[in-house]
Amino acid sequence: MIKLAVLCSGRGTDLQSIIDAIKAGTLQAEISIVITDKPNVKALERAEIAGIKNICIDRKTFDNRADFEAEILKNLAGVDLVILAGFMRILSPEFVKHFTGRLMNIHPSLLPSFKGAHAHRDALAYGVKVSGCTVHFVDEGTDSGPIILQAAVEVKDDDTEETLSARILEQEHIIYPKAIQLFVEGRLKIEGRHVKILEAAK
Ligand code: GAR
Repeated sequence: MIKLAVLCSGRGTDLQSIIDAIKAGTLQAEISIVITDKPNVKALERAEIAGIKNICIDRKTFDNRADFEAEILKNLAGVDLVILAGFMRILSPEFVKHFTGRLMNIHPSLLPSFKGAHAHRDALAYGVKVSGCTVHFVDEGTDSGPIILQAAVEVKDDDTEETLSARILEQEHIIYPKAIQLFVEGRLKIEGRHVKILEAAK
């Protein structure tokens, strides 16, 4: 069974979609550990309720990123795939290199549009009519790695950050477990910037 680690910073609804897909049998993997970079966040509670090992590695208690990441790494032994699910920190190139092809992120826009921490606000400010979400492998840039799956949603004239983010989240909760299952089935082939999705084995 493929072992996942899920890294979160807050609410954890993307985490919950992965927990639910595993329970439903549509995702054949197990979550070995949930790690947050902040204490007392809802993601920890969700993991606890699901009976999953969970720890907080509080970034504020480390002098520098290298020590913080070393502590995370210590907890990732035996993990096959690292999932960033609303993890709001940039990981160092060294960390990313360590997990090349085994580190996924979800971002609430149709990349390469609206990278960064304010995707919904930026999409609304720009006036796009369509936005969405992107699951991608993480490379050394920010929100720049090879794209695995995307889903589009309409942007309405009266959307606020809240309404747009809720519409996008519904899609996130569908495509993230799907992308992970494709990894589990060995169907993701990275070729430079491109991720080819191979046919399912018969
Ligand atoms: C999600 O919308 C995810 O796409 C976004 O944070 C939210 C986490 O929600 N991630 C990023 O913006 C990463 N740059 P959640 O805590 O309810 O899963």
